[in-house]
Amino acid sequence: MNIHRVDPVALPTIAALRTRCLELGLPVWTVSPTGELGPTPGDDVSLVGFLGSPTLRGLLEPIARGWSAVDEPVPVSPARGMYAIPIRAQPLASGGRGETLLVLALSPSCVEEEWFEVVSMMGGLEVRSAQRLVEHLCRHRPEGIPALHRALGWMIDDLARVCDDQVTISGFTRQLTEGFETIDALYCLGRSMNVLSRPREFFDNGVSRLHASMSFGWLAAYFAFEPDAAAVAGDRLLHSGPLPGDAGTIVAALRGMLANAPRSGAPMVTTSVPGLVSDSGQLVVLPIVRGERLVGAVLAGDKRGEDPIVSSYDTHLLEAAGGYFGAFLENAMLYARQQAMFMGTLSALTSAIDAKDRYTCGHSSRVAYLSSLIARAAGLGEDMADRLNICGLVHDVGKIGVPEAVLTKPGKLSDEEFALIKMHPEIGHRILRDIPMLSDVLPGVMHHHERWDGRGYPHGLKGEQIPLVARIVGLADTFDAMSSSRAYRPAMPREKVMAELVRSAGTQLDPTLVPMFVTLDFGAYDRMLSSAAPQQSTLDLTQGSPAPSLPIDSVAA
Ligand SMILES: [Fe+2]
Repeated sequence: MNIHRVDPVALPTIAALRTRCLELGLPVWTVSPTGELGPTPGDDVSLVGFLGSPTLRGLLEPIARGWSAVDEPVPVSPARGMYAIPIRAQPLASGGRGETLLVLALSPSCVEEEWFEVVSMMGGLEVRSAQRLVEHLCRHRPEGIPALHRALGWMIDDLARVCDDQVTISGFTRQLTEGFETIDALYCLGRSMNVLSRPREFFDNGVSRLHASMSFGWLAAYFAFEPDAAAVAGDRLLHSGPLPGDAGTIVAALRGMLANAPRSGAPMVTTSVPGLVSDSGQLVVLPIVRGERLVGAVLAGDKRGEDPIVSSYDTHLLEAAGGYFGAFLENAMLYARQQAMFMGTLSALTSAIDAKDRYTCGHSSRVAYLSSLIARAAGLGEDMADRLNICGLVHDVGKIGVPEAVLTKPGKLSDEEFALIKMHPEIGHRILRDIPMLSDVLPGVMHHHERWDGRGYPHGLKGEQIPLVARIVGLADTFDAMSSSRAYRPAMPREKVMAELVRSAGTQLDPTLVPMFVTLDFGAYDRMLSSAAPQQSTLDLTQGSPAPSLPIDSVAA
């Protein structure tokens, strides 16, 4: 027995037709283009004996073969009370040759016919059992067969149209989903463009997000056509997905492709890059152009999914992303230059203050470093670490208004001299308060000499009334003051400094910051200290030298 395979595209239509026909008491067979009948119909297994009878099949197969030879088959009655009705299933979406279906209609009187008895017996059924089993099928009268033929034709057309609409809707749904992902990716890129202080984060997220919303095996961004572009972006080649080769090969190929390319920023799709593109693959290169300058490129390769050919959708999305990348890179480079200039100005200012006292040389830079180190260790994040760095740098800027003779005086200060020293936080606050970029560090300048127990200056704030930035800078300031030489005493050894910090936790210093601080790595700090103050010596407590009286209270003036 030959049983043909059915076109999978037609399956939804045929399956729906079978279900409806069975509900109408009409078993359905598929017919191959060469006239072979498909599997025996019968979701109801009790019918299989009758419908699968070799005799019934023998009656229907010649009709099926006859239909395969004509364009418009017509209903045939192979025996009295039995009608074979043809339907051509032509799924509109497939566009291919439609399936022919054979629908079996039985009349109420067929159970009395001789062929019914033979079919039942050859199917292994008692005649009376067979009559009971197929009773619900035997309700189609001969005069109604032409109308049934037409109705079944309309039904298959409608089903085919429904299936076609479902395919169209599925396509639209997929396109809408892709479109949403695209818009979402571009929206996220646009939204994160204002964080100019973290360009590496922006480009890493952008490349990953773009890769996730597109059907490429890998996607990369290259920034090294201008001297500081790679430094600002964080690396010269950022990528998501496995690259087809090492970075050197990719960069060399990219530079070769773009060497003579017009500065239009138009995407380039190529298949001829040895080592980067597989035999059937394509590589998209989107130059990132600002004005007439080539500042970078976006690359994507190994297109996957239903359509492995790079589409205009792909190139438009890459163009949009490249536009965001270029604008962000330009702004980030400008921001980096302004930031460098700003920090350079601050450094020059604080160096001038430190220079008033050779003993405090490099103090501001070390307090800046330590403050940012504490911020990171306390989990405050990179932005806060940056702000603490600036706060540490400018915390003593008010000393510019304190006489040098007072700042550098060896020995104990008079009350009047100490009163002058105590003015420097407020002087510093006044100097810096009109600089908008420093507004968030002003509390650290004003309050870095407050004490946890409220005995500090200038306002006598207590505990958490003292701004966190001020508590952090105050701790860094105290540590550096004890660790470096001063006019009135040499530097203290590290163990002694740490012991003093622990002793002062909860009186002068924040008791939650000190335990964390004493566990930090001071390697970089020690290198800063040794390069900045070659003149200092360390107080040797083992030789009986007097320890500084009240070191914590007096060192951090
Ligand atoms: Fe100070």
